[in-house]
Amino acid sequence: MTIPYPNTQPMPVIAAVTPPSGASRPRVTFLGTGYLGATYAICYAELGYEVLGYDVDPDKIAKLNAGEVPIHEPGLDELLRRNLAAGRLRFSTDIAETADFGDVHFICVGTPQRADGMGADLSYVEASVTSLAQHLTRKALIVGKSTVPVGTADWVEQLVSKHSPADLGVEVAWSPEFLQEGFAVDDVLRPNRIVVGVKSEWANSMLYAAHKGVFDLAATEDREVPLVVTDFATAELVKVAANAFLATKISFINAMAEVCEVAGGDVTQLARAIGYDPRIGNRFLQAGLGFGGACLPKDIRAFQARAQELGAGEALRFLHEVDLINLRRRTRVLHLAAELLDRRYGPAGPDLSGTRIAVLGATFKPNTDDVRDAPALAVAALLRKAGADVHVYDPQGIDNARRAVPELTYEPGMAEAVTGADLVCVLTEWADFRNADPTVLGELVAGRRVVDARNCLDSALWTQAGWEYRGLGRP
Ligand SMILES: NC(=O)c1ccc[n+]([C@@H]2O[C@H](COP(=O)([O-])OP(=O)(O)OC[C@H]3O[C@@H](n4cnc5c(N)ncnc54)[C@H](O)[C@@H]3O)[C@@H](O)[C@H]2O)c1
Repeated sequence: MTIPYPNTQPMPVIAAVTPPSGASRPRVTFLGTGYLGATYAICYAELGYEVLGYDVDPDKIAKLNAGEVPIHEPGLDELLRRNLAAGRLRFSTDIAETADFGDVHFICVGTPQRADGMGADLSYVEASVTSLAQHLTRKALIVGKSTVPVGTADWVEQLVSKHSPADLGVEVAWSPEFLQEGFAVDDVLRPNRIVVGVKSEWANSMLYAAHKGVFDLAATEDREVPLVVTDFATAELVKVAANAFLATKISFINAMAEVCEVAGGDVTQLARAIGYDPRIGNRFLQAGLGFGGACLPKDIRAFQARAQELGAGEALRFLHEVDLINLRRRTRVLHLAAELLDRRYGPAGPDLSGTRIAVLGATFKPNTDDVRDAPALAVAALLRKAGADVHVYDPQGIDNARRAVPELTYEPGMAEAVTGADLVCVLTEWADFRNADPTVLGELVAGRRVVDARNCLDSALWTQAGWEYRGLGRP
């Protein structure tokens, strides 16, 4: 059932419930205070809820309690400090305190790709749910937010009944999360929809109460937040289906880029032209280096692995192709680098030894410090493997990048990175790079050659400034 709210139609009645703690609004906890959980904890305090964030990482918790956001997410620092000061928000590494505090516990731990295959590693979900369940002393609702294979919510329900006393009547629900890093604060405060998978009226009512701040904010801003109330399996599938669709859209236009490259077309114009059709739309239709990050790549792989287990592997076979198209864009940058530097591309790749390459961008997209599965960093490592002396600059991702790929040289600024470079590769579309002056940069480099792997530069401007310019999917 879909419940638009607020609505001029008679609302389906969602009964008001008293939270088990006796508080007037449910007290909420977020287990796992990474990109998802920290953002949620802070934003829900901003919505007026009493919030406790829990994590097993004591450094992260100490930073958050000291008013320091451990990640880069625009707007989050100020909200953290304001809500700590207001006394609505705190963070802890104590699971007993967390269990005692909350009426609704949101599970926000990581579900990375398993080391031994394409499926999701559910060990963090298992550990967090088990330890929470063991410490509960009254009824509560445990709500999964992590992205998981379909069937996980039922399994979590079994874990909860195994590890919490039956007479407490602890319940489980699932509410997948759609926030985008870089826009996360607004996505949490003003989501474009809320999806909940529930099995009882009580769980539905508690979750409604736990989201009421979002609905109330929408009402004051004359907006609507659609609410989809469904079963566990659908709620779990909504998230991976959405990510599969987005990944497919990106790989579709990157496949068109591959064809443009051999046929002499320009994928940027092609994308604009097809995007005017409202059935297609122009969002997520920018050809370039492809998708990365901690969600799309591992989510489409885990989705395929789970579908295979369930006997529906054929239905998602296309996602394998989506993944391959995405990964091929990385080698395309290597080809362009070899071409511009006049190096042969042999069976083992190009020999770029003796060249210096500036890599601009390390994060998987702008406005984050997240380098997990970042195409930019993967390409930087490939360029180094091919023998180039690679100098990387990123406005926010340097610390994480250095931890992930320590063998690259990291620079404190764009000027330092490009000085003496034979080639500049723009691999993440930060505004700093898009707006860089090609004439000024031209004075610093050893050779005016640029690969615009995000098609984010003004090619005419760079060419006028004397640069040899190559985009992806462009003549
Ligand atoms: N990052 C996003 O933009 C985003 C968006 C939508 C959904 N998701 C999903 O949300 C989940 C979390 O993603 P993330 O990017 O926040 O990951 P993350 O790695 O940034 O955060 C996970 C946190 O969980 C903590 N943790 C590990 N074991 C724990 C335990 N037993 N108890 C409590 N905390 C524990 C870790 O210390 C870490 O701080 C994933 O399933 C992801 O797919 C993420």
